[in-house]
Amino acid sequence: MTHNRHRSKQSISTLNRRELLRLALGAGIGISSGVLGMGSAFAQRTVERLPIESKTIPSTGERVPLIGIGTARRFTVDIDDDAAMDPLREVVRQLPILGGNMIDTAPSYGNAEEVIGLLMQEFNNREEIFLATKVRQQDTADALQEIEDSFRLLQTDVIDLLQVHNLVNVENMLPILREMKQEGRIRYYGITTSFPGQYEDFERVLATEELDFIQVDYAIDNREAEERILPLARDRDVAVQTNLPFGRGRVFEAFGDQPIPEWAAEYDIDSWAQFALKYIVSHPAVTCAIPGTATLRYLEDNLGASRGRMPDEATRQRMADLIASA
Ligand SMILES: NC(=O)c1ccc[n+]([C@@H]2O[C@H](COP(=O)([O-])OP(=O)(O)OC[C@H]3O[C@@H](n4cnc5c(N)ncnc54)[C@H](OP(=O)(O)O)[C@@H]3O)[C@@H](O)[C@H]2O)c1
Repeated sequence: MTHNRHRSKQSISTLNRRELLRLALGAGIGISSGVLGMGSAFAQRTVERLPIESKTIPSTGERVPLIGIGTARRFTVDIDDDAAMDPLREVVRQLPILGGNMIDTAPSYGNAEEVIGLLMQEFNNREEIFLATKVRQQDTADALQEIEDSFRLLQTDVIDLLQVHNLVNVENMLPILREMKQEGRIRYYGITTSFPGQYEDFERVLATEELDFIQVDYAIDNREAEERILPLARDRDVAVQTNLPFGRGRVFEAFGDQPIPEWAAEYDIDSWAQFALKYIVSHPAVTCAIPGTATLRYLEDNLGASRGRMPDEATRQRMADLIASA
């Protein structure tokens, strides 16, 4: 039902800002940049028209779409509560249909792994998903148990990416993850953080260990990772997933009520979410971003950031300056 309702809106929502303006002018209708800048209805048009862009995981050459989904907090729901499950159901069903594939989760996100496992079963789409989870136990035996629980809850024999969450017990976990990769139980492994206080240790591990991936916090108003972590990841040929791309919603407060600048349309940006995400995924070291996405509307909007033209370096600076001055 939700899908059909969405389809019925397509004729309006697939118009882009310039097409809408052209039509409006032809019809003698004035549309202010403020109205165009609201983004929500118009954000969907890129989803249907332009191909999803992807980047390469350096250790294998496999490509992943620029935008995935994060599942912290919003995927912690009662599985018997249809009202809570239905929006998540649509997200997991539509993610690969719309051209995305990455789901990032963790044992510490309540029952998110269970929810994702159930929904992938329901839609029989496990093979189309790039499934990333984490391990975060100080005690190694507990960590091994946590990993086995992840396989069971996610209802999968292979986890695409398993990362050491916030560096917990990293020295002992990396050899274990390496072995699991050799056994074919996981395809990639890495480390995550979202705390600048951990960056020094994070950089040390990134500089000295063989890794497929890192995950780090990076947003248009949180750019510390640009200083050393992103260049180091590039030097080390490690894929980069970025977490907290909206600062848990904080960046939308920075944008406030102002319309999206007209020049953003040159980069196929139709919403502030796409503005924030394109800033991130256009960084040369970044492989993908994983915005917390628990509704179909957010999914369509966010995936729009993986389509169309990407800002160049000068434009990225302009984008960051705009937010810094907001
Ligand atoms: N150390 C780690 O390993 C670590 C740490 C943090 C996060 N993560 C991962 O990174 C993911 C992303 O972080 P996050 O979910 O905490 O925060 P986030 O992605 O920065 O922000 C998510 C929030 O932004 C809002 N949002 C999403 N799409 C939107 C759109 N198109 N338009 C307007 N608002 C939108 C939603 O708010 P509402 O739902 O309130 O509307 C959503 O909850 C996590 O889900 C998790 O998978 C990992």
